[in-house]
Amino acid sequence: MQQTVESNRTLLVDGPASVKLVSGRSEVFGCRIRQTQRVVVREGKRLPFYVLEKATFDLSVGPNAILSETSGNTVPNSWGKPLESIRNMRKPVVVMVLGKADSGKSSYCTFLVNNLVDGKCRIAVLDGDVGQSDIGPSGTVSYALSSKQIAELYDLKLENAFFVGVTSPIMALDRTLDGMIAMLAEINQKAVDFVIVNSDGWVQGEIAIRYKTALIKELKPDIIVGVQAQDELNDLIPYIDQKVVLVETPSSLSQRTAEKRKMLREMTYMRYLKDSKLRSYPTNKLVVEPRNTPLEKWEPEKGLLVGLFDFGNQFLGIGVLREIDQRKKALKVQAAVLSEPSRIVLGRVRLDENFREIQG
Ligand SMILES: Nc1ncnc2c1ncn2[C@@H]1O[C@H](COP(=O)(O)OP(=O)(O)OP(=O)(O)O)[C@@H](O)[C@H]1O
Ligand SMILES: [Mg+2]
Repeated sequence: MQQTVESNRTLLVDGPASVKLVSGRSEVFGCRIRQTQRVVVREGKRLPFYVLEKATFDLSVGPNAILSETSGNTVPNSWGKPLESIRNMRKPVVVMVLGKADSGKSSYCTFLVNNLVDGKCRIAVLDGDVGQSDIGPSGTVSYALSSKQIAELYDLKLENAFFVGVTSPIMALDRTLDGMIAMLAEINQKAVDFVIVNSDGWVQGEIAIRYKTALIKELKPDIIVGVQAQDELNDLIPYIDQKVVLVETPSSLSQRTAEKRKMLREMTYMRYLKDSKLRSYPTNKLVVEPRNTPLEKWEPEKGLLVGLFDFGNQFLGIGVLREIDQRKKALKVQAAVLSEPSRIVLGRVRLDENFREIQG
């Protein structure tokens, strides 16, 4: 089906849908849409197509997709405020984005990528949100590099990931922090101009404040941008020793229920387990971490999410531990990884045969 939208209006598309620009000019979070491109809007996500010049879109919509139109641009003007200082800082510039859950953090990171790329510079995005990951699978902190515009962070190709194994940093504070430090150290070896650090939405309460201040101390961002609707960052900001530049939460943002958030996490597992097969890894050729995990207490029907790594620290992918073959002394892991891992890190998330999270 086709829809024509006048200039200076926004077509809001709630997925699942795919959108092609037939004529006119449009952008998503500052990413200019090419007429040859099909932009996929996943279920549970909303993308705003801002129309710069009267545009016709060709839309394929799935069940539950919603299309609506609104006047003006749903990306707030304030989002552009920090750009000039970021561009003028000494490279590499580390920008950290803070905000509560569903505040627009990931979209703001996308907006930064789209406005900083200039055909020359290289940008790294460090995804520190283990619960609503955009780049790696949930349960990991990961990074990607880009020198092109993108409609969403999900479009970026993962370079490496650190497996945390839980979907909330509160369950593994030190490990999440270690992962962020390790990934930033790796990024710093790659001569990038900008590092955009996305964070989890946990910004209120004593432990969240302790975690965020530790993260800032370790990653030493040159600039911190807070995305907030009202005063959600007011508890945290007094504990941060540098100025936090505040930008607004978009009013047309789509809020997600706990169920939707779970579904989005499961989509990230499925993405990395596509075409997976049951593989057998002999334990004498593997380092299994953490080394003291009581595997005898493990219930095979509740598969365990694991991270697979090569000899270095290169992340090969995730897997689901399905069986322990005591006779052959091997771990049977469902994975889409072709090379043999030399290290397996056990997580705490459990996935059923359809890669749905099992609670408890
Ligand atoms: N300006 C906007 N106009 C319309 N939709 C938007 C806008 N900004 C963000 N959204 C949509 O709102 C939803 C929430 O935004 P986003 O994912 O950026 O928030 P977040 O803070 O990263 O959330 P989470 O805590 O789940 O990681 C997304 O589907 C996003 O595409
Ligand atoms: Mg996000």
